[in-house]
Amino acid sequence: MKKPRVFSGVQPTGNLHLGNYLGAIVRFVDLQKDHECIYCVVDMHAITVWQDPKELLRSTREVTAAFLAAGIDAKEHIVFNQSQVSQHAELAWVLNCVARIGWLNRMTQFKEKAGKNRENASVGLYDYPVLMAADILAYHAEKVPVGEDQKQHLELTRDIAQKFNNDYAERIAELGLAGEEKGGFFPLPEPLIQGPATRVMSLRDGTKKMSKSDPSDYSRINLSDDPDTIAKKIRKAKTDPEPLPETVEGLEGRPEAANLVGIYAALAGVSHEDVLRQFGGKGFAEFKPALAELVVEKLSPVNAEMKRILADPGYIDEVLRDGAERARAIAAPIFEDVKRIVGFLM
Ligand code: TYM
Repeated sequence: MKKPRVFSGVQPTGNLHLGNYLGAIVRFVDLQKDHECIYCVVDMHAITVWQDPKELLRSTREVTAAFLAAGIDAKEHIVFNQSQVSQHAELAWVLNCVARIGWLNRMTQFKEKAGKNRENASVGLYDYPVLMAADILAYHAEKVPVGEDQKQHLELTRDIAQKFNNDYAERIAELGLAGEEKGGFFPLPEPLIQGPATRVMSLRDGTKKMSKSDPSDYSRINLSDDPDTIAKKIRKAKTDPEPLPETVEGLEGRPEAANLVGIYAALAGVSHEDVLRQFGGKGFAEFKPALAELVVEKLSPVNAEMKRILADPGYIDEVLRDGAERARAIAAPIFEDVKRIVGFLM
């Protein structure tokens, strides 16, 4: 039986952090067993805000190295960078003509990223979610593992797919391109927002998500941090004066405590209850060193493997080239069909 197809992407913008790792990359690794996976370094999304070109190149290789170091099998599955497969941009244009301005105006991430000076944001930043829809739909992907912050973008992707299917329903049927069980040309992709760490929060403020763009490096743990830095960041992480509660309900209203317990649970592969069974009633002076030890234990091997892989950029580039070729082989015939459906002369 054909395995369901998975697509997801990570931007090569600065340091990868524990949120990207637990919310996305670890999930990518798990899905390999029973899915056909396509994992993309989305360099075209990255330039929606200014990127230094040399830094973008470095970062593209670094995200690829992180994928490989975490255990993604680039031979069995596909790993590539977005700009090498032209169908992403081409399909995005067609979908730009399907998506409505009103839909994009509701995107909260654009509002956050553009900030107060919206007039000065790039058109690309505004259009970011449509390119993301193109990424997914270009492969007829069925499942998309992401962190909680991408939920609205995936809902938009489904709306765009649905509108395309409706607008062109007659033509799709005429050409015999309606997938039988799907009823339309584009399957509606299912978001996979699962696991104990779909929203890892900042170490400085438990109500804000851990993010690459936070000005304080103490707000996040980077995959490239050494053990001393990790221990220091956890030691300095914001907490409250109470000891850890005995039950999960006791974490309510204590966002920083809940976040640290969540990180521990995700890394140890246990539930929040399990963590509190072990640490309930104990103070942060005891919990923080245990957490630091666990983070170092789990991230050190990934960090070391990343460094080893990064020492051979030629190898990384070859992985991406090979992945792009195989990605193109899937996306090209699907985009040919899109052209036929829309009525482009070929
Ligand atoms: P990016 O690079 O910002 O984030 C990559 C992945 O990491 C997840 N993530 C988090 N998860 C938990 N806690 C956090 N604090 C945290 N911060 C980030 C994100 O949800 C994401 O899954 N728009 C995407 C990239 C993209 C994409 C796609 C994803 C482009 N095209 C197509 C899926 C399908 C993004 O924000 O990446």
